Amino acid sequence: MRKKIVAGNWKMNNTLEEGVVLAGQINDLVEKTELNGVDVVIGTPFIHLTEVNKIVSDKIGVAAQNCADEVSGAYTGEISASMIKSTGSKYVILGHSERREYYGETSEKLVKKVALSLANGLTPIFCFGEVLGERQSEKHFDVVKTQIAEGLFNLSAEEFGKIVLAYEPVWAIGTGVTASSAQAQEMHAFIRKTVAAQYGQEVADNTSILYGGSCKPSNAKELFENADVDGGLIGGASLNAEDFMGIITAF
Ligand code: G3P
Repeated sequence: MRKKIVAGNWKMNNTLEEGVVLAGQINDLVEKTELNGVDVVIGTPFIHLTEVNKIVSDKIGVAAQNCADEVSGAYTGEISASMIKSTGSKYVILGHSERREYYGETSEKLVKKVALSLANGLTPIFCFGEVLGERQSEKHFDVVKTQIAEGLFNLSAEEFGKIVLAYEPVWAIGTGVTASSAQAQEMHAFIRKTVAAQYGQEVADNTSILYGGSCKPSNAKELFENADVDGGLIGGASLNAEDFMGIITAF
């Protein structure tokens, strides 16, 4: 089901105490604001999941930022999809470029993580995007199509219908260099066309495609006005409740 979604991604930030404070601030703002049908999600480190789920109302969904590619067992340090589910969380961010770059995330692992997430009733927010050199050499469309196809096109149409897509041009993440509105719409339209070719237009039209990469209160409205941009996956700006709210109300 295609929805307007603004999801925060705290990344590796906030002690337990800081997370409680920030989640409470966001919840207070959400409670007194007309959301106009926007779904709000907060993506936190694992240590925050249980507590943030207790703090926020059902107007806010909570996301983990990764999950294991195994069901359970002798995988020291890993957190399984079923463990994430047990915290009350409803989403899981998968395939983020930082995990692809720093932690060897592969499409093969992502196929397993998506399957385990769906099996536990979690909604994957599946991330992909090109690096600057790939855009400069005009390979960005091929890169994005490959990442989506390798990570998701094993799914049935029904399963794919449960996925939220997040296009995050790596050159825009944390850099303050945001994709232009035209660049975002061009790529989002390509993504929707790619999904339509695999699953048909109805599935494509019902897929939420989020933009991530230096999305701020100052540029969110222009980005979200695009026909194929269904919201944002927000890093830095989600660490400040007022800024995060400014993006949520930008629709
Ligand atoms: O997952 C969202 C993130 O990668 C975007 O980060 O700080 O550019 O909003 P930021």
